[in-house]
Amino acid sequence: MDLQLSGRVAVVTGASKGIGLAIAATLRAEGARVVAASRKLSPELAELVGDDLIHVPVDLMDPDAPGSVVRAAVDTFGGLDILVNNAGGPPPGITMPTFSFFDLDDENWRSVFEFNLFSTVRAVRAAIPAMLARGGGSIINISSTHARQPSAVNVDYGAAKAAMTNLGKALSDEFGPRGIRVNTVTPGPVRTPWWTDAGGAAEVFAAKVGMERDAVLDGTGAQMMNLTTGRLGEPQEIADVVALLASPRAASTTGADYIVDAGLLKTV
Ligand SMILES: NC(=O)c1ccc[n+]([C@@H]2O[C@H](COP(=O)([O-])OP(=O)(O)OC[C@H]3O[C@@H](n4cnc5c(N)ncnc54)[C@H](OP(=O)(O)O)[C@@H]3O)[C@@H](O)[C@H]2O)c1
Repeated sequence: MDLQLSGRVAVVTGASKGIGLAIAATLRAEGARVVAASRKLSPELAELVGDDLIHVPVDLMDPDAPGSVVRAAVDTFGGLDILVNNAGGPPPGITMPTFSFFDLDDENWRSVFEFNLFSTVRAVRAAIPAMLARGGGSIINISSTHARQPSAVNVDYGAAKAAMTNLGKALSDEFGPRGIRVNTVTPGPVRTPWWTDAGGAAEVFAAKVGMERDAVLDGTGAQMMNLTTGRLGEPQEIADVVALLASPRAASTTGADYIVDAGLLKTV
């Protein structure tokens, strides 16, 4: 299927690793021109940099950063068609998962909302005028199953992602008539550096339940998390859904929430 993304301009936040890297690589492979935002340029992202992909080094905790990323798209590629708000998870200096409401002070709550929600709010605020100038666009927000399945685990993150999912629906309603589609993708556990890095989620989780780190990442962890597929998701499996939602082939899909969670959520 031709996704008709050739020549379209996309911004992807959190694009140096994990899900964001897979999204940036996939959109570029489909012919889009990509602005990839993250604090650092990873070796994997550096391999993609060229005429059709630039890296913009920003810390999205800075309120001016989302606007500067959108400006880079307009200045470099002449406009903006696609915005993927992917950056999220633990903000700088915070380790996740957490396991109780009482693990969290005001600073935790503030920084988790700043990174996971407000950076998206600011990116959307900057992107919509640029998209309207081109007659429309597609915004995709990367949420989490924590938005739909509240629990004691990462309670601040779940609340921020629930707000993000809610925001996406509201935006789709307001801007759909003007040609901007807004959709949410809701991943379950995905094998990314957030899980696999030293000190990452797999190690924290393993220490909590008295397992080996590698067991969390293989079938045992999947069994404990009740994943019906028996394994964590892969970044490419999220990126492929994002690419379809970015595409004009999905012109009637807006205000939707696509769950890609390896069967974690058990409700309809
Ligand atoms: N992995 C999962 O199991 C899972 C599950 C559900 C939802 N999600 C969601 O999926 C998205 C991607 O997660 P992931 O697992 O791929 O994360 P990841 O592997 O930790 O990658 C995070 C990306 O965000 C960038 N980043 C981190 N802090 C930043 C900051 N302050 N400013 C700018 N960029 C920053 C990182 O690059 P730098 O470090 O260079 O800045 C990196 O490119 C997040 O929204 C997360 O909430 C993930």
